[in-house]
Amino acid sequence: MRWRSECASTIVELHERGNNAVPYDNLPVLITGGLGFIGSNLAIRLVEAGARVTIADPLMVGCGANRHNIAAVANRVELIERDIGDADEFASAIRDAKVIFNLAGEISHIHSMEFPERDLLINTVAQLRFLQACARHNPGVRIVYAGTRQVYGKPDYLPMDESHPVRPVDFNGVHKYAANMYHAMLSRSGQIDGIVLRLTNVYGPRMSLAIPCQGFLSTFLRLVLTGKGLQVFGDGKQLRDPVFVDDIVEAFLLAGLAPSPKERTINVGGPEALSLRRIAELCAKHGGDLPVTIRPFPEDRVAIDIGSYSTDSSLFERTFGWKPVVRFEEGLLSTLAYYRAEMPHYLDPANPQPFCGLPEHQGVQHRLMYSAV
Ligand SMILES: NC(=O)c1ccc[n+]([C@@H]2O[C@H](COP(=O)([O-])OP(=O)(O)OC[C@H]3O[C@@H](n4cnc5c(N)ncnc54)[C@H](O)[C@@H]3O)[C@@H](O)[C@H]2O)c1
Repeated sequence: MRWRSECASTIVELHERGNNAVPYDNLPVLITGGLGFIGSNLAIRLVEAGARVTIADPLMVGCGANRHNIAAVANRVELIERDIGDADEFASAIRDAKVIFNLAGEISHIHSMEFPERDLLINTVAQLRFLQACARHNPGVRIVYAGTRQVYGKPDYLPMDESHPVRPVDFNGVHKYAANMYHAMLSRSGQIDGIVLRLTNVYGPRMSLAIPCQGFLSTFLRLVLTGKGLQVFGDGKQLRDPVFVDDIVEAFLLAGLAPSPKERTINVGGPEALSLRRIAELCAKHGGDLPVTIRPFPEDRVAIDIGSYSTDSSLFERTFGWKPVVRFEEGLLSTLAYYRAEMPHYLDPANPQPFCGLPEHQGVQHRLMYSAV
């Protein structure tokens, strides 16, 4: 594509010129899910790099959307409060975008097991409609999608590479895999130019603290920030390789402008594999020596636990010249500093109880509706 050769000769060259030289200056980009955790960090970085940023995000109840996430750049971002399933309603933003960062989604494995049709609608149906609209309005556009390591399920070996069998243990993994395949299939047929980054657990400023069902890192941070002890389920020896959000933003920026890679689905992991007990102990230490207890898995969690996980990111590293640089303790300290300064925007200080707001939790049935055409 002409704009890409004008903007970026090779990714190695971009790297040599340093991050600030990544040529997003004046480039129109669209970020779906840009009010959420990863999308908002990416939006801020792109604004700083001079990009013309449009966000599509309807503040989906139960997900991590938060207007405060983009407060620092709110007057330099165009916000379209629409569901990507209604993409034809913002066709001009799709048509204008030179790169689309597709981060819209529901990340909760627990929600997906409680309300599978809701997860299907968000992670699969909306994605299908969106990608078809992209292919129609901006054929061949580069789309970088936030996939997940959850699609692999329980590991046969570690660190896990892209050849590992795909055996998701929850509906979220199944639906995210379907969306991963949509990107791959439409790229094979030339309708879009997609790259799927299969992300490990991401943490950092702007993740939702209030939603109880969003994973252990958000829970640990909430407990630390409210001075409570931490619980680890299982034996505490399960490995995770958390990656700091700045490293992930860097990965998205690189993938956004890189020449089309041969492999379209690539793992992106963190710099070190740590046991859950170690992660909890580091969190507890920086919360003022809070207690950590190890306890058996609750019944609803054990079925969707994958045991240990760590990522083989070597394909991404070779292809894009990227490496995660922020070690967990360092990332944790800057994350805690952010929340200590911005706490009221993430947790109600008078009542810092988690609350996800899903009407389904109040007994409202969520069923997928099809209208006859
Ligand atoms: N956070 C992680 O550790 C992690 C790990 C692997 C993959 N991912 C993927 O990264 C993406 C972003 O995750 P996050 O942690 O920022 O989540 P988040 O919940 O903080 O943000 C998701 C955002 O997507 C928006 N959204 C949901 N459905 C939408 C729709 N139909 N149209 C437009 N916007 C919609 C929500 O309103 C929210 O703002 C997700 O797709 C997730 O599956 C995240």
